[in-house]
Amino acid sequence: MVNLLQANSLCYSPVLRNINLSLKPGELVALIGPNGAGKSTLLRLLTGYLTPDNGCCQLNGKSLAEWSAVDLSKQRAVMRQQTQLGFDWPVEEVIAMGRSPWEQQDGDSVVRHVMALSGCLPLAGRRYNTLSGGEQQRVQLARALAQLWVSDEPQGWLFLDEPTSALDLYHQQHLLRLLKQLTTAGKLHVCAVLHDLNLAALWADRLVLLHQGEIVVHGTASEVLQAEILSRWYGAELHIAQHPDNQTPQVFLAP
Ligand SMILES: Nc1ncnc2c1ncn2[C@@H]1O[C@H](COP(=O)(O)OP(=O)(O)O)[C@@H](O)[C@H]1O
Ligand SMILES: [Mg+2]
Repeated sequence: MVNLLQANSLCYSPVLRNINLSLKPGELVALIGPNGAGKSTLLRLLTGYLTPDNGCCQLNGKSLAEWSAVDLSKQRAVMRQQTQLGFDWPVEEVIAMGRSPWEQQDGDSVVRHVMALSGCLPLAGRRYNTLSGGEQQRVQLARALAQLWVSDEPQGWLFLDEPTSALDLYHQQHLLRLLKQLTTAGKLHVCAVLHDLNLAALWADRLVLLHQGEIVVHGTASEVLQAEILSRWYGAELHIAQHPDNQTPQVFLAP
């Protein structure tokens, strides 16, 4: 099927077993699960950075292994958990690295657009290595959006590994509202590892819960964020209540 990212019976020993997942256009999917469940490994398989031992991952009906590196880079971008750079580049040049798969000479205008979208304008002129962890995350988001920029908007598949881990409250909300707005517009398709289940509940269309290398629960926030389910798979004592604005389930740890 066209315009679909499909994982069929993915195995990556000893980390992941029999993963079946399809990512559809215009969706924001959250990968959740305890530490060591295999979320980052799954993200690497879905993006073609790792090759499965068994099963396959297809983008638009073609195995990831058959895509050329340049063509794949124009279709999907990845924001990793932490990105250290060995060179001391200004923020704008780090973001412009996202344009490398493209031949067009539109780098400067794309960089300005994605800096505005991702809240990076106050970081203009700074050296990447002098930024805080949260500021570096915003720059990496901008770089990924620049990589997927076509005409006047980002298009394609965006994968993010714990993108909010170092962000303050304002920037968590800003990032998730931005991803939601871009996915709802229909051109960007997002799969993000999120540790914060309350953020996932508020913004993700679907939640996929991994545990010890398998998908154990999969569904909407109301289907997945239930006290028995989360206590079972995370081993934490917790309560579920409804968000005052829209009745979305929210998780409260027991003290
Ligand atoms: N190549 C590998 N060989 C063996 N174990 C691995 C390999 N890569 C990751 N692991 C282990 O697999 C588990 C899942 O890792 P990871 O995908 O990073 O988990 P998560 O992102 O959910 O915290 C961890 O226990 C990790 O140490
Ligand atoms: Mg991880």
